[in-house]
Amino acid sequence: MGATGTFDAGGVDLASIPVSCLSPCHGFNGVVTQYQTSAHYIAYVQNLGTAQATEWTATGEACGNCHAIDALAGRVAGTVGTTNGGVVTNLASGELQFRDPTTGALSTSTYLGSALTAEVYCTTCHAVTDANDPHKTGIPWTPGSFPLQVAASGSAINIEKSATSAAVTGTQATGPDGGDFGAGSTCMWCHRSRVDVTNYLTDTGNVITSVYWGPHEGPQADLFTGTGGYQYAGKTYGEATHEQKLSCIDCHMVSVADNSGVPDHSFAPRISACVSCHAGATSFDINGFESQVKSALTQIETYLNTAGVLTRAVAAPYTPLTTAQLGDGLWATDQPVPKATLGGQLMTRDQAGALYNYILVARGGAYGVHNPKYVAELLSDSYTALTGLPLAAFPSRP
Ligand code: HEC
Ligand code: HEC
Ligand code: HEC
Ligand code: HEC
Ligand code: HEC
Repeated sequence: MGATGTFDAGGVDLASIPVSCLSPCHGFNGVVTQYQTSAHYIAYVQNLGTAQATEWTATGEACGNCHAIDALAGRVAGTVGTTNGGVVTNLASGELQFRDPTTGALSTSTYLGSALTAEVYCTTCHAVTDANDPHKTGIPWTPGSFPLQVAASGSAINIEKSATSAAVTGTQATGPDGGDFGAGSTCMWCHRSRVDVTNYLTDTGNVITSVYWGPHEGPQADLFTGTGGYQYAGKTYGEATHEQKLSCIDCHMVSVADNSGVPDHSFAPRISACVSCHAGATSFDINGFESQVKSALTQIETYLNTAGVLTRAVAAPYTPLTTAQLGDGLWATDQPVPKATLGGQLMTRDQAGALYNYILVARGGAYGVHNPKYVAELLSDSYTALTGLPLAAFPSRP
């Protein structure tokens, strides 16, 4: 290869190494094996051939924009479906909601691809082309040769929640050290609420339309950035160090030395990502904070359940949780009861916002780890809005 070859730090010509398929991808516990232990792969296998897989890739439905194998490619290219010529203002920053110009309705853009596979796969996140696919070029991997669909630097991220109900524009979030979120932007295109809560709620008479009312599964970006929750008037919401210094991949994709330094593709958070700041940490329940959040979730869950607002049934009759289910750890599976009221009245904005925040934290808060301060503030304000009382776990507002 001469002077144009690619050499590692020791001067070895990487193109001459015969085992180039092994690292980082096909070695023992390489990228491919790590990926096969992730929920991204396991859900695909579980759903193979099911009605769920068909629904998740249906053209003209919202689901494929995150669940189809080419989910990001279409969005990055600016190809999503809208009604009546509606425009998603910040599609290039990950946003999906828009206002229909004819009906005025808050709407979600749809998937226009034709994939039949419902999987978050290598090519979903990585922009693989004939020119950089090692299977086609025969050229071994070199650091940086396998780029992401969403640019890892310079990409802005918009969380769906708009600042005012005047327009559906979302809120631009600020990444570590005031910059972008780096490779974590990729995660934030999918792990979001899908709901512009400012435009979703009304001042009075909030109707719970179905068990799917509220933020979608996996709204981690909304909480991590400290921008996506329903925030109460007159309160200020703080920023956490995690949000100022870290992004998703810092905790979920630690670099693996055995793997040429390519990050862990199991996407599982690791304690090794915490100890540089939390010296000696042995679990994610640092200073008992996760335990406090779990206890707060149970207290709000119990209140809402007694009021007839929560269920785990997917069809009528929407029976409340049993005593054994309260606080059983499965907060993320709680769903709102269609047409639920509080004290016989449709919910006010602040009450529906509390229900929204409960679901948001249960589904995306990682028991507070994603943004300790913001999560504790949202839960405290929500419980107080419902009951007028402070939470036992956070007697004074954090
Ligand atoms: C903005 C991206 C996005 C869109 C659009 C989206 N989802 Fe999801 N969905 C996710 C993410 C992310 C998760 C994983 C959450 C987690 O496990 O923490 C998820 C999880 C789910 C789950 C839970 C089961 C599982 O495998 O974890 C179901 C069911 C689901 N989605 C159905 C749908 C349906 C139906 C649609 C279309 C109406 C849809 N989703 C649209 C991002 C999206
Ligand atoms: C959910 C998204 C996602 C999926 C799925 C995924 N990756 Fe990655 N991959 C990433 C991110 C994020 C990085 C880190 C990039 C960075 O740090 O700049 C990365 C890094 C890499 C790198 C190093 C990048 C470089 O240019 O040097 C390789 C190689 C890689 N992935 C291969 C794969 C393979 C092979 C698969 C499928 C088995 C896969 N990835 C699946 C998100 C993903
Ligand atoms: C194309 C959309 C998409 C992207 C991009 C994406 N995810 Fe996911 N993620 C999902 C979906 C959907 C699920 C649910 C399992 C499934 O259906 O694949 C999920 C599941 C997960 C889970 C398991 C959650 C649980 O409840 O067990 C973790 C952890 C996760 N993702 C982390 C990440 C990280 C970290 C990134 C960025 C490197 C990322 N994801 C990028 C869509 C995405
Ligand atoms: C860049 C340094 C840094 C890293 C890395 C980090 N944290 Fe933190 N974390 C902090 C700081 C500083 C606080 C104190 C509150 C604040 O400033 O937001 C904190 C607060 C917390 C809290 C709330 C309880 C408390 O002591 O305030 C939890 C829980 C937590 N972190 C968990 C984790 C976990 C789990 C990881 C690894 C997966 C992690 N952190 C990684 C800096 C970090
Ligand atoms: C400070 C480290 C840290 C950062 C940054 C971080 N996570 Fe997490 N995340 C965790 C930990 C720790 C857990 C598991 C908590 C537990 O199970 O005790 C977790 C859990 C999750 C889960 C499982 C479901 C849930 O929410 O409880 C998903 C999905 C996820 N994170 C995605 C993301 C995404 C997307 C980002 C970026 C927007 C992100 N994480 C940023 C540490 C982090």
